[in-house]
Amino acid sequence: MAELREVQITEEKPLLPGQTPEVAKTHSVETPYGSVSFTVYGTPKPKRPAILTYHDVGLNYKSCFQPLFQFADMQEIIQNFVRVHVDAPGMEEGAPVFPLGYQYPSLDQLADMIPCILQYLNFSTIIGIGVGAGAYVLSRYALTHPDTVEGLVLINIDPNAKGWMDWAAHKLTGLTSSISEMILGHLFSQEELSGNSELIQKYRNIIAHAPNLDNIELYWNSYNNRRDLNFVRGGDTTLKCPVMLVVGDQAPHEDAVVECNSKLDPTQTSFLKMADSGGQPQLTQPGKLTEAFKYFLQGMGYMASSCMTRLSRSRTASLTSAASIDGNRSRSRTLSQSSESGTLSSGPPGHTMEVSC
Ligand code: BEZ
Repeated sequence: MAELREVQITEEKPLLPGQTPEVAKTHSVETPYGSVSFTVYGTPKPKRPAILTYHDVGLNYKSCFQPLFQFADMQEIIQNFVRVHVDAPGMEEGAPVFPLGYQYPSLDQLADMIPCILQYLNFSTIIGIGVGAGAYVLSRYALTHPDTVEGLVLINIDPNAKGWMDWAAHKLTGLTSSISEMILGHLFSQEELSGNSELIQKYRNIIAHAPNLDNIELYWNSYNNRRDLNFVRGGDTTLKCPVMLVVGDQAPHEDAVVECNSKLDPTQTSFLKMADSGGQPQLTQPGKLTEAFKYFLQGMGYMASSCMTRLSRSRTASLTSAASIDGNRSRSRTLSQSSESGTLSSGPPGHTMEVSC
């Protein structure tokens, strides 16, 4: 950790009356695999983990997480935690393009950079929120440093290395599509891309015209060359902490997340399949994700329901039953959110609980 740079910026979040602005501070630390930037919001809270985020390919911490962390109901939650938003190397705003031949870190090496960040900040434990490649990085970190991870929210995780069929498909697509179109196909469903909504136009524009597109391609290559995480239910290679798996019901990674759920400890894992959320639930459904995150934190004992008055009053959640995806009755919880009712359901088969929120 030889060198570090700090940039102080005042965040853009609109303030509620009586609120003082939170200062965001961007730091950069040297690691054995190069330097990494991260932005810290809020101040450390005694006896509480930091929330640490890791974004997906084609994005940075802001384009991936800003809509979620600036969502009004989320404020009640995040004010209780310091947040560390990591930008993968070369993805931070204004990042210079890496020189030709630069050896970009593998996803495992990106995970190995996290201890340098935590050591620098003097933070001992985290709750991780990762999307896609970022979810993989945080899972790898949790496998190697289980004692420092109190919980994980994994959106669109694919824990498997690419098989030869995937490689063949990838190579074929590469013949006819640009890197930015391939990355868009990783982030969003085909329906979303052909619908070409404002959100898609915005992200297509961000990625296609990114000044650091060459760096993005390097992160993309590392993602495509990932190793299998080799999760084994009941085995040594599994996540030990509470996990919330999240995927949109039409997301490109739905099958991978379903399979991942079948490999994790059912007593520690909740599976949230979100209706009408497309490939990026944290962008399109921040309200539902905020609510699920609130329950996740409550399950970990962090948010007493009495602290959640405004959020709690804002909607009704119904906790209902579900069977595990492998057909066995399981203690794993499937949370599925319906777009029509705005309800959130979970719990063991046959058990229905209405929580008036
Ligand atoms: C935060 O409050 O943690 C945050 C604000 C803006 C962008 C991302 C995160």
